[in-house]
Amino acid sequence: MPASIRLLATVLVLLARTAFAHEGMWIPTLLKSIEGDLHTAGLRITADDIYSINHGSIKDAIVHFGGGCTAEVISTQGLILTNHHCGFSAIQEQSSLEHDYLKNGFWARDKAAELRNPGLTATFIIRMEDVSERVLNELGATKDMSEAQRREAVTRIGEAIAQEAIANTHYQAVVRPFNYGNSYYLILTETFRDVRLVGAPPSSIGKFGGDTDNWMWPRHTGDFSMFRIYAGPDNKPADASDSNVPFVPRHALPINIAGVQEGDFAMIFGFPGSTQRYLSSYAVDYIQHTADPLRIKMRAASLEVIDAAMRNSDRTRIQYADKQASISNAYKKWIGEVRGLKELRTLEQKREQEALFTDRALERGRTDLQAVLPALKDLYAQYVPLAIARDLFVEMVYYGPEVLRFADGFRELAEEQVKLEADGKFEAKAAERLRAVPGFFKDFDAGVDQRVFKALLPIYRASVPENVQPALLKEIDTRFNGKSDAWVDDLYARSILVSESRLTAALKLKPKKFAKVMRNDPVYKVSRNFFRTFLEQIRPQHAVIGDRIETAMRTYVKGMMEMDPGRTFWPDANSTLRLSYGKVEGSQPRDGVVFGAFSTLDGIMEKYVPGDVEFDVPERLRALHTTKDYGEYGVNGTMPVCFTSSLHTTGGNSGSPVLNARGELIGLNFDRTWESTMSDIQFDPDKCRNISVDLRYVLFIVDKFAGARHLVDEMRIVREPVEASLPGVIQLPIHR
Ligand code: ARG
Ligand code: GLU
Repeated sequence: MPASIRLLATVLVLLARTAFAHEGMWIPTLLKSIEGDLHTAGLRITADDIYSINHGSIKDAIVHFGGGCTAEVISTQGLILTNHHCGFSAIQEQSSLEHDYLKNGFWARDKAAELRNPGLTATFIIRMEDVSERVLNELGATKDMSEAQRREAVTRIGEAIAQEAIANTHYQAVVRPFNYGNSYYLILTETFRDVRLVGAPPSSIGKFGGDTDNWMWPRHTGDFSMFRIYAGPDNKPADASDSNVPFVPRHALPINIAGVQEGDFAMIFGFPGSTQRYLSSYAVDYIQHTADPLRIKMRAASLEVIDAAMRNSDRTRIQYADKQASISNAYKKWIGEVRGLKELRTLEQKREQEALFTDRALERGRTDLQAVLPALKDLYAQYVPLAIARDLFVEMVYYGPEVLRFADGFRELAEEQVKLEADGKFEAKAAERLRAVPGFFKDFDAGVDQRVFKALLPIYRASVPENVQPALLKEIDTRFNGKSDAWVDDLYARSILVSESRLTAALKLKPKKFAKVMRNDPVYKVSRNFFRTFLEQIRPQHAVIGDRIETAMRTYVKGMMEMDPGRTFWPDANSTLRLSYGKVEGSQPRDGVVFGAFSTLDGIMEKYVPGDVEFDVPERLRALHTTKDYGEYGVNGTMPVCFTSSLHTTGGNSGSPVLNARGELIGLNFDRTWESTMSDIQFDPDKCRNISVDLRYVLFIVDKFAGARHLVDEMRIVREPVEASLPGVIQLPIHR
């Protein structure tokens, strides 16, 4: 190929990439401003169809589910769809040995059989409004305000704005900062409190592949569950009650089963939790070279202990399944993140951008901006030791040996016994603690916990600056000859907190006696020492420096926007409603590796391991595979299961709808590929893919596997492919 043509080819590839590479999580009120891009990318409806405050739009079908996940309305009777892992705790709470819904799945035969879930909520966004001008005006000259004072002032102003907005309505409202407090949005919400479990597949479908497949492609998880929102007879939120009725939504998503093709336009609408797109190189350096590696090391050490124990005993396997999953989810994500940052040379790129930033500031005589990166550098030098201490405190106490947290639950009884007794409250508190004891020990194995403690302690001691380590750890040198294992053994040998019977007996002692026993308990003392060291010596300073970083970041990000007006800045995710768009596509995650975009039921059978916790396949599903009884959901004798697309997502996007160009539901997001996890910091269009369950698989499981056809009958099923619509912009059919 002649050089000029090669150059042209490269330019075209680059153009194609930039045309289709859609980094960013867009605020729905601003979609009008990128409507042209959306249409170029393939969207066939209008920005107004996605978000409108004047008529039903897609946003009216999007639900913030339980505060951490996304769900979407899929019928005019308030039926909502989310992930199995998002409904997991509700499903678990409904389960018992007689009704093991986690293991066997659950399908309500009719509405009367749907199960209430106290505390579970479903929140809709009524409207969002940019209130930056008012907030920033009222803040006035923030120059001499500390970050803490500013935060307080913002809260006050925000509350006033929110109060005005909700006057005479049943809505809630909050004002949230975006872009490090350079802008503010008022968010008006409507929260439903009666959300009932409708259906969930068995874990062998909903969690198929378990932790082995987590964050991985190819993937075959039917990660979905269904709930229903109930409202009072007036269709407004109401406490759970028999007189409630299925909620009638302003819009319900139609479901398209015509099939998904590589290259199809796709978009995702949901509640991504948090991203860090504009971090300085100093922060990336800390994450990539210190925080992630340390946390990975800590978790690898505890997982080694827990995994071995789970392999050796069924009892331990059940006891530790949930804890293991939560430790390993972030562990695996961080491994991918470090690898991705390294491959993308994010740190080097950041450094180059920062040099450019300072040059530009210099050219323009912006002394305020010239100072900001040196300030960040300086702040990070102070911040890192505190951040290590804080991060490893969290790893040690919240993800490490459970006794440390458990012991803290007895703090009030032990430290404030005199006052509690004087107020006549001691007995009730002790009784409450006593009731919690069996629950803790049900899923606790002292031997495993002790080995986790031994595995983590040396890493902790070697990594956390000595002056912010709990002083009690000095005993290891002074009394145990530097042998931390022996120190741990001694704790567990003497503590009542690792023995259900001894602890139960102690809780029945006289208050004064109990308090004394607890205060002298070796594990309790260590736990106290960890918490006090953190609360007194780490957290306050950590907050002060963290606040200064926040102030500097506000200036830095604002400066980037001012000096680079041609670049589009999207605000970092902050658990508010966002839209990302791209297309259905496979990827090239690593050199020599190409990922296809689709997986099928055949792949489930390839992975099938009879009786395995992660890879067993229900008999009925195997039978359906053998007879290829896929109904109208299959294509040419195969059953689609999952697909990937180039949508920018993060934690919190779980359960988010993946929609086609007409705003019809085609997929249910539940994960990213391992090679994507650095996208919280830097998105790469070639590598970053989100993973969805194909809606055809969801319907196949509901209809053919579970025999819950009545649920499919509630939905509006579209069988016409997008290409079959006439050219031009299509009117969004509002389904209600
Ligand atoms: N990685 C996904 C997320 O971050 C799924 C987690 C649940 N699944 C699991 N096997 N732990 O939430
Ligand atoms: N599984 C994640 C969640 O629960 C989504 C995956 C991601 O982080 O992209 O939100």
